[in-house]
Amino acid sequence: MRNKRNATIAAIVGVIVCIGGGYLLLRGMTNAEIFPLNTLNPRGRQSQEIHDLAVPVFIVAGIVFIIIEVGLIWLFARFRRHSDDEDGVDEPVQQHGKTPLEIGWTIVPALILAVLAVFNVQTILELDDASSDALTVTVEGQQWWWQYQYDTNSDGKTDIITATQMVIPAGRDVKLRIQSNDVIHSFWIPALNGKKDAVPGHTQDLVMTANEPGIYEGQCTEFCGLSHGVMRMQVKALSAPDYEEWIERMTTAPEQPETELAKAGQALFVGQCARCHQINGITPESEPNSDGLYEYADEPLEDYGIEVGSTLTNKTAPNLTHLMLRDTFAANLLDLYQDVPTPVVENEGEPNINNLKRWLRNPEDVKPMDPDNNQGMPNLGLSEEQIDQLVAFLITLK
Ligand code: CUA
Repeated sequence: MRNKRNATIAAIVGVIVCIGGGYLLLRGMTNAEIFPLNTLNPRGRQSQEIHDLAVPVFIVAGIVFIIIEVGLIWLFARFRRHSDDEDGVDEPVQQHGKTPLEIGWTIVPALILAVLAVFNVQTILELDDASSDALTVTVEGQQWWWQYQYDTNSDGKTDIITATQMVIPAGRDVKLRIQSNDVIHSFWIPALNGKKDAVPGHTQDLVMTANEPGIYEGQCTEFCGLSHGVMRMQVKALSAPDYEEWIERMTTAPEQPETELAKAGQALFVGQCARCHQINGITPESEPNSDGLYEYADEPLEDYGIEVGSTLTNKTAPNLTHLMLRDTFAANLLDLYQDVPTPVVENEGEPNINNLKRWLRNPEDVKPMDPDNNQGMPNLGLSEEQIDQLVAFLITLK
């Protein structure tokens, strides 16, 4: 009698702990501000489809889990050994071979899994659907940042190249063609879709559709070396008119610098940085015009070393043409503005000069890299004066 009562109490406590703990865990994890990389907070069509599958599957699995756990706890408590038991007393009757029972516990799980498989396959097929007006963006993983190439008018030519922050139109399907320039990475924006590996020599497609304008965080999820853990990315979804304005701005050359400091920075950029970093139109061989300024091109041109549609093996650093139209840099580790990112074309806050200087003083202080092996940016040993010039120039790139 005492055994049965204690067993029941133990089973009830077990159920309360399971349900309560599970509830608190899920409640905490759906807080997007604390956990931006959260698959339980879908903000896109595909992530919603995954969520709509995962929740019922979780409930079915949870019910099975609770039945099994409660049964186990009840059995442990009911048939546990007591200190005053004599040897051999209270041992349950041993049984062998209950055919109906064995058939039952084989068929029931098989049926449950078969039903779940139907919905699984259906969801997998739906995730690949893309409307005919889908925007195509070529995503390329590099050690340790992400590059995005756009063919906005679908003529087979790249007209926008950017990095770190991918800008997309909200409400429209975006077909990502995911590639890698070196090792295997994995592209993952949990609020919008699942993960997809970026494999060298191979292109993998992933469709994502953001429901609303917003900022969506991501993280490389395949170990890719030194800075894998800080290889972040960000999606900025804009409203349709804002997105059109962004394309217009991105395919128009930035204004030329006006201050003497910024002009000196531009000349320094051509001499020091243009070997790796592209600003459309500028090469290390560029000559200044009669005003002492270097001419930018309106869009990336093959003449400037960018091979359309191929991996940019000769260009191992982010294209900086419209740097200040991004909100973050250095693999999304540093803010470019003092204001937090918002889904507008241009952040209206003050540029974060300190972050830019910190990066130029010693990039490896921010992101571990191995520049001797062409992985990341070397410390160029710039003077404070040179850093001031470069920063004054970089913030003109809008
Ligand atoms: Cu790229 Cu991990």
